Amino acid sequence: MRGGYGAATLAMRRDPLNITQSGNEFPLILGRDMSGVIMECGLDVAYFKPGDEVWAAIPPWKQGSLAEFVVVSGNEVSHKPKSLSHTEAAAVPYVAATAWSALVNTGGLSKDNCTKKRILIIGASGGVGTFAIQLVKSWGAHVTVTCSQNAEQLVRGLGADEVVDYTAGPVEKQLQTLQKFDLILDNIGGDTENWALSFLKPWCGAKYVTLVTPFLRNTDTLGIADGMLQTGVTVATKALKHLSKGVHYRWGFFAPNGPVLDDISEMVDAGQIRPVVEEQFSFSQVPQAFQKVEQGHARGKTVVSVATAQTE
Ligand SMILES: NC(=O)c1ccc[n+]([C@@H]2O[C@H](COP(=O)([O-])OP(=O)(O)OC[C@H]3O[C@@H](n4cnc5c(N)ncnc54)[C@H](OP(=O)(O)O)[C@@H]3O)[C@@H](O)[C@H]2O)c1
Repeated sequence: MRGGYGAATLAMRRDPLNITQSGNEFPLILGRDMSGVIMECGLDVAYFKPGDEVWAAIPPWKQGSLAEFVVVSGNEVSHKPKSLSHTEAAAVPYVAATAWSALVNTGGLSKDNCTKKRILIIGASGGVGTFAIQLVKSWGAHVTVTCSQNAEQLVRGLGADEVVDYTAGPVEKQLQTLQKFDLILDNIGGDTENWALSFLKPWCGAKYVTLVTPFLRNTDTLGIADGMLQTGVTVATKALKHLSKGVHYRWGFFAPNGPVLDDISEMVDAGQIRPVVEEQFSFSQVPQAFQKVEQGHARGKTVVSVATAQTE
């Protein structure tokens, strides 16, 4: 990843037996989301054929998507929603796969158990948050979010029922007037962990799932073995501490998943989920696109269009 973050773990995932021993990840192609057309398929691939329009989120240990040609595994790719352009579709897979992994695989939510559940999304105006609001809202949940005041219109338009402006004073004070939650998705981390779990309904399976974890930082600084050990101790300690108070503490992670993108594709074509594209850059503007992303304050996603307008 840019800046070397996660380098130790990603190097191990790319080259588990350390055969190349290059100690160097270059050449490196950035970008995780893609939407495009299949050029060729492997001999075992039956579900796709050349010419199919597909989308995917590419795992970080593989070369990325800021390229004219991308190699992905059959189980990472999915038919793109027919109702979206490639630019719109490219705004969805990575945040969708991350939100799904956190909310469904880790948080235990599904379209069959979400009705009337109270969900709090901390940091809802960025990529993951704008997708997560729409997913749980379309499954019938009651959605409370935290964001800046100037993002309120955006998040309400995506389905948020209650909006807490974190710039207007401590969020924990503002949340005290609301009912407790069945699930909290934390996109911000840091000191939110100190207060967020007290807003979960105790002793009824309520979960706090944070996407901001020290896993990669631990393996960067301590090495793979010690980093994983430290990570295991940290998460187990926190989980036990909160379990004694009747709530569940979990870490969420991005997981590439073509079949999940198939489900999301249907939801997009059914009008239940829409992409939130904040700004679009051309391929020659990749440096500006990264500068924009690094400034923070995202409102949905920034998309780079590698193809020319004619091939879009
Ligand atoms: N574990 C994993 O595998 C995994 C995968 C993907 C992402 N992540 C992590 O998940 C987090 C969310 O990702 P993302 O792509 O959605 O990030 P993003 O697009 O950068 O969005 C973050 C949003 O939070 C808002 N924000 C900042 N401070 C806030 C606060 N104190 N309270 C409420 N909102 C605040 C920002 O807008 P304003 O600053 O204008 O308020 C921005 O809209 C990131 O930390 C990312 O690193 C983890």
